[in-house]
Amino acid sequence: MEKYIVHGGNRLTGKIEVSGAKNAAVAILPATILASGVYNIENVPQISDIFALTNILQTLGAECVWLDHSTLQIDTTHVVSRTLPASLSKCLRASYYFVGSLLGRFNYAKVATPGGCQFGATRPIDMHIKGFEALGAKIPPSDEEADDEIIIAKAENLLGAYIYLDKVSVGATINIMLAAVRARGRTVIENAAREPHVVDLAVFLNKMGAHINGAGTNTIKIEGCPDLHATDYSIIPDQIEAGTYMVAAAATRGELTVCNVIPKHLESITAKLRDCGVTVLENDDDSVTVSANGPLRPCHIKTQPHPGFPTDMQSQFGALLCTCTGTSTITESVWDDRFSYTKQLAKMGAKINVTGKIASFEGTSLNGAEVICNDLRAGAAMIIAGLCAQGETVIGKIHHVERGYENIVGKLQACGADIRKENFPGEEEN
Ligand code: EPZ
Repeated sequence: MEKYIVHGGNRLTGKIEVSGAKNAAVAILPATILASGVYNIENVPQISDIFALTNILQTLGAECVWLDHSTLQIDTTHVVSRTLPASLSKCLRASYYFVGSLLGRFNYAKVATPGGCQFGATRPIDMHIKGFEALGAKIPPSDEEADDEIIIAKAENLLGAYIYLDKVSVGATINIMLAAVRARGRTVIENAAREPHVVDLAVFLNKMGAHINGAGTNTIKIEGCPDLHATDYSIIPDQIEAGTYMVAAAATRGELTVCNVIPKHLESITAKLRDCGVTVLENDDDSVTVSANGPLRPCHIKTQPHPGFPTDMQSQFGALLCTCTGTSTITESVWDDRFSYTKQLAKMGAKINVTGKIASFEGTSLNGAEVICNDLRAGAAMIIAGLCAQGETVIGKIHHVERGYENIVGKLQACGADIRKENFPGEEEN
């Protein structure tokens, strides 16, 4: 089993380059199924979620070739399969976007239920199903047997519909868009998610010839269009990777320029860092410099759908708040249970009290310890905590981190962090 070994105490300094957005890329790759042809997609991050998606695309009959470090060529000319086995679906959450794209392309999809991070007892997909059904799909169709582990969706013809989402959902918004772009007539998604990756997918689909309006607002309107075509595209920078390095800079009281970012996407993160007394400067269109010195103030955070504070940044802030003087709070309002990382931080001496959806953090000094990553962003929090703790932190279950952060060890090392990856043969990942 591989682990990260971190020795805390070094300030992060210099420049760090952010990769393409994971949560945009994991929607855009499945979207390539919607039209036959050759796509050149730039700014694709080299992370294990993307490798899992290229495996899936290849299983469906597409060809995927890396033209350089971040440009992926996808040829969907020979895609014929409409079925995704469990061994592939379970690798990641975004495998469920193939339900939308296969349904949009072939009026049929058979996709085993997805994997990915767990934040509570279940991670429901009822609104995705409701959306597909509103477009005319039968799930399961009458000629196939129901199976809790497999989503089978079939439509004679997809027809545009008015779909109101009971709760703002990134996944349901994206999946419904994927199915609706080729449906006959107009689809309206009300109470839609407004995240940057939802907008990026809409821009990509429009470049393929789709007619989507309103992405980035809570009402998305789609005029169905059967004649989509392959296109070239460059994915937006990763908001959460950028935010993670901004927080790491603050936690180590460093001075770091985070490059290849869209500062607008970082506004809620920047605001909370400033609340803590961290200096954040927007240098130009695509970089920010974060610097911190000495004691930081506590702050209060509530996670919300975009443009609110992103839930995907709350555990990294949790690590930072342990280093701020006084009492801070985080209220998690998107997921039922996203505080499991606090138990790991407690092993490092963190003083955190979780009551339901609110965690309070009492500033203290952290000490190195043996911890694990409970999920992707929890793993990022363990790294940040390790970077500002005294002594050695050994972080297990790092496969979670590698699903979403490209070369995190190399990038942090180049900014002065004492972090390395080591193999521990004989120790099993469980
Ligand atoms: C996406 O997950 C992201 N994943 C998550 O990021 C992120 O935490 C989340 O959006 C919220 O921003 C990807 O983009 C691949 P949701 P998703 O549907 O789409 C409830 C990361 O670390 N809900 O917006 O699965 C749900 O339980 C990952 O990069 C339903 O009730 O999240 C939650 O409470 C982790 N029924 C809320 O909506 C549904 O059918 C928001 O979930 C769907 C969701």
